[in-house]
Amino acid sequence: MPIIAPSILTANFLKLEDEIDMLNQSKADWIHLDIMDGVFVPNISFGFPVIRQIKSHAKKPLDAHLMIANADKYLKEFRDAGVDRLTVHLEACQHLDRTISEIINLGMKPGVAVNPHTSLEGLKYILPKLSMVLIMTVNPGFGGQKFIDYSYDKVHALKDMILKSGSYTLIQVDGGVSKSNIKPLFEAGVDAFVVGNTIFSSSDPLAMISDLKEMENLD
Ligand code: DX5
Ligand code: ZN
Repeated sequence: MPIIAPSILTANFLKLEDEIDMLNQSKADWIHLDIMDGVFVPNISFGFPVIRQIKSHAKKPLDAHLMIANADKYLKEFRDAGVDRLTVHLEACQHLDRTISEIINLGMKPGVAVNPHTSLEGLKYILPKLSMVLIMTVNPGFGGQKFIDYSYDKVHALKDMILKSGSYTLIQVDGGVSKSNIKPLFEAGVDAFVVGNTIFSSSDPLAMISDLKEMENLD
């Protein structure tokens, strides 16, 4: 079964408690937090005070996706705010091995995200240290964008790398995931799906999460 990680980026922030309640009751596995700094990506989202409040209410692990420069400066603060899984961008970390080791030392599960155009080559040697690789299937910065089709090639290539390395690294995709592409992506080897707009713009988010998780009533 796929791991479903709803992204609250497109949730109603005036009713965040209700949105987290809904996710607590749902079949979602993790809660995905998109952290943007206006430097690495052309958008600014939310930070520690919001994460701490989500943590106090959430019953599912927090899966944070850092789209920020200088991630190293804030790793401990993310852990202290309650983040369980921490994903940093390959393009934003100069000393990625050190960053990953630090995330592990802090007791979080490390992930590395790659932008659509970025080659997987830079992950080769650190793959066995990673809990997850996040393949961006849109250019990061905004919810509700269109899925980039060449992402399938990257999923296949990453699956190959993981099998060859004998590691247990999960593959996550993020951006433009919907009822029409979740099944082929799962069959291509994706383990975890970030889903924003498809869930939060749905008239029945609980049913949508259930359909995605069970892969039922798909388009
Ligand atoms: C994009 C974010 C995504 C985004 C996904 O920068 O990383 O998590 O919110 O949203 P949808 O599913 O709407 O493309
Ligand atoms: Zn994300």
